[in-house]
Amino acid sequence: MPKTLPVITLLGGSGFVGTELTQRLAGEASEVRVLTRRAQRVKSFRILSNVDVIETNVHDVDELSDAIAGSDVVINLVGILNSSGSQPKNSFDGAHAQLTATVVEACKRASVSRYLHMSGLGADAENGSSEYLKSKGLAENHVKSAAHLAWTIFRPSVIFGPGDSFFNRFADLLRLAPIMPLACADSKMQPVYLGDVCTAFVNAMNNPDTVSQSIDLAGPDVFTLKELVAYTAKTAGLKRPIIALPDAIGRFQAMCLEFVPGKPFSRDNFASLQTDNVLPEGVDPQPTSVAAVVPRYLGNADYNGELQDYRTMARR
Ligand SMILES: NC(=O)c1ccc[n+]([C@@H]2O[C@H](COP(=O)([O-])OP(=O)(O)OC[C@H]3O[C@@H](n4cnc5c(N)ncnc54)[C@H](OP(=O)(O)O)[C@@H]3O)[C@@H](O)[C@H]2O)c1
Repeated sequence: MPKTLPVITLLGGSGFVGTELTQRLAGEASEVRVLTRRAQRVKSFRILSNVDVIETNVHDVDELSDAIAGSDVVINLVGILNSSGSQPKNSFDGAHAQLTATVVEACKRASVSRYLHMSGLGADAENGSSEYLKSKGLAENHVKSAAHLAWTIFRPSVIFGPGDSFFNRFADLLRLAPIMPLACADSKMQPVYLGDVCTAFVNAMNNPDTVSQSIDLAGPDVFTLKELVAYTAKTAGLKRPIIALPDAIGRFQAMCLEFVPGKPFSRDNFASLQTDNVLPEGVDPQPTSVAAVVPRYLGNADYNGELQDYRTMARR
């Protein structure tokens, strides 16, 4: 008997992780539904005939139940690094905890039991060092207390890959600034490759052993933030002094950067960085290293930049 392929619905499927995961899932599913707040902005999946981009208010339990009806698996990737605007659904609590409660309820109404949830390493409702980590922890609690769900939770450290907002953002900042004053320079991180994260999701979907499991995801190497920024500069071909800021000045820098468009850094990000983002002892890391992947896109960006400079000089 040929295997029947599942219908998979993603929330947050238009983002950095979602775009890669959706492409991977398209080969594993009869239909992939990507729910989004603005379908017009999602252009990545046009060539995938079994991927439907559906504009939905995912915060409305009735709309969401209708959108996920008939799915075999629901995946929630929604997450924000900074709260924005005055709308509650764009706050940490709204986008993480309340939305997850809505998804849990919608799954119940639509009789969907398999649920994969994206959290973050260090998420902890009680002891998280930031609103981000606390709200991610609250969301996990909503998932874990849902008796009707066969859930799996993923808790990655910072994720890298082409288009990431970690290495690419630091490379952009380093290109602009002659020196890099860096808050939380000694914070530890264990970056994990986007491809490994997506593999974990795809594998878990078909593996009943992962039901009711929280899976921590991190790469093979631990770095301080300063080491990662220095690595970024070197890989992008930039020579920049990196100045570790004392905490009081780092916190002030975070407050000032909240007023810069795109909020490159915030007091809540500063608070998140007070907790090392590394695997607990005894947990195996994912295989792909920063060194195996990052030079391919940061190095290329630089190379493309050089080409552009030559073109500009040649007035092309
Ligand atoms: N990237 C990392 O380094 C990293 C590390 C640890 C954990 N994570 C977690 O992994 C998940 C995916 O991260 P990512 O880097 O792919 O994020 P991303 O690129 O910013 O994408 C986030 C997605 O969430 C949706 N979204 C954002 N705010 C929303 C809101 N208020 N209500 C409803 N939907 C909203 C957006 O969908 P639409 O705009 O289409 O509606 C978007 O597709 C997040 O949960 C994040 O916390 C990421």
